[in-house]
Amino acid sequence: MPTTTDVLTISSLLSKFNEPETLKMAKLGRELRAKGVDVIDLSLGEPDFDTPVHIKEAAKKAIDDNWSHYTPVAGYPDLREAVCTKLKRDNNLDYKAENIVVSTGAKQSLANAILAVVDAGDEVIIPAPFWVTYSELVKIAGGVAVIVPTSMEDNYKITPATLESYITPKSKLFLFSSPCNPSGSVYTKDELEGLAEVFRKNPGIYIISDEIYEYINFIGKHESIAQFDELKDRIIIINGLSKGFAMTGYRLGYIAASVPVAKACEKLQGQFTSGTNSITQKAAVVAFTTDLKPSMEMTQEFARRRERVKELIATIPGWKCAQPDGAFYVFPEVDYYFGKSDGENKIENADDLCMYLLNVAHVSTVTGRAFGNPKCIRLSFANSLPKIEAAYARIKEVLAKLK
Ligand SMILES: Cc1ncc(COP(=O)(O)O)c(C=O)c1O
Repeated sequence: MPTTTDVLTISSLLSKFNEPETLKMAKLGRELRAKGVDVIDLSLGEPDFDTPVHIKEAAKKAIDDNWSHYTPVAGYPDLREAVCTKLKRDNNLDYKAENIVVSTGAKQSLANAILAVVDAGDEVIIPAPFWVTYSELVKIAGGVAVIVPTSMEDNYKITPATLESYITPKSKLFLFSSPCNPSGSVYTKDELEGLAEVFRKNPGIYIISDEIYEYINFIGKHESIAQFDELKDRIIIINGLSKGFAMTGYRLGYIAASVPVAKACEKLQGQFTSGTNSITQKAAVVAFTTDLKPSMEMTQEFARRRERVKELIATIPGWKCAQPDGAFYVFPEVDYYFGKSDGENKIENADDLCMYLLNVAHVSTVTGRAFGNPKCIRLSFANSLPKIEAAYARIKEVLAKLK
């Protein structure tokens, strides 16, 4: 008789993609902390601020007003209108409610959008470094993630010539974030225009523009590639509440896209999760239509930390770093330490360095391998300045032991 473990198998899909390295590091950090170790978390992908008071009030009111039933799959009509208002106010983009689908986080919006346009064997061009989830969602959809390296000299941004050189008859989608997680790079209008020119020559390619860090921008106005009208039907904007409003746990993201893509996403979501949380949706209407002052204050604090982190990194031998223009991460090259050892721990790669920093310095970071650049590690500055100062002091001390 075969045993249960012989006959009960997990589907082959599961072996095709990885769990997010960011969540893995956060888990390892939590486990160490549970053993009483004072771990400083620089692996964090979320603002360390509270949700603005007026948005919390809207959520409480939604509970009292009994917004407790199933919601329309694509989101409440007033919320989809509020997203259009936001897109006009902040980005001067004209969308109608029919172009908007609201989901349980930008992650679900991305999953919907990728599943909506990628067929088995389609190529998806992703400039590296990229957010860990992109390549894995492409694999889940049966597509082929075509990872395009970029350089620190180009501030980790893809150039039009490089983009063009990776386009093949199988290219179906281009997927990028600006501001970028993990590099913090932000595309200017001119740079986006350069990429748009390549897309004009290649009409069969969709573009997913992940703008979840829109408000955390240290260099000025956010630019969306959707501003180039001739491309608008092929562009799928991804955005949401998580980063700009410090609302990661509320779980709300959205797409703005052409009607066929929006309908496809709605159909997919109708089978997976239905509409997202009713309370969150009511809070989101307020978030998207009221004063952005609290978001801008958070960004000012991130900007202060960024300045300090730049100084701290400059004191670490061998670390090289492009300046982050947005988001709340730094992504230094750390390969100077590869091949070194403290006598006990041998550092072969970025994974080893992250584990060394976690186990010896008690600072959690994330390996650049997960983001498509194995020479780097990602350190968040979504933590208080005293914690950041303490973390870098520890890092410096333990790196000095590596010979
Ligand atoms: C670039 C990027 N896109 C999307 C997301 C997902 O955000 P959400 O919390 O809305 O699912 C994240 C979260 O870390 C991110 O960094």
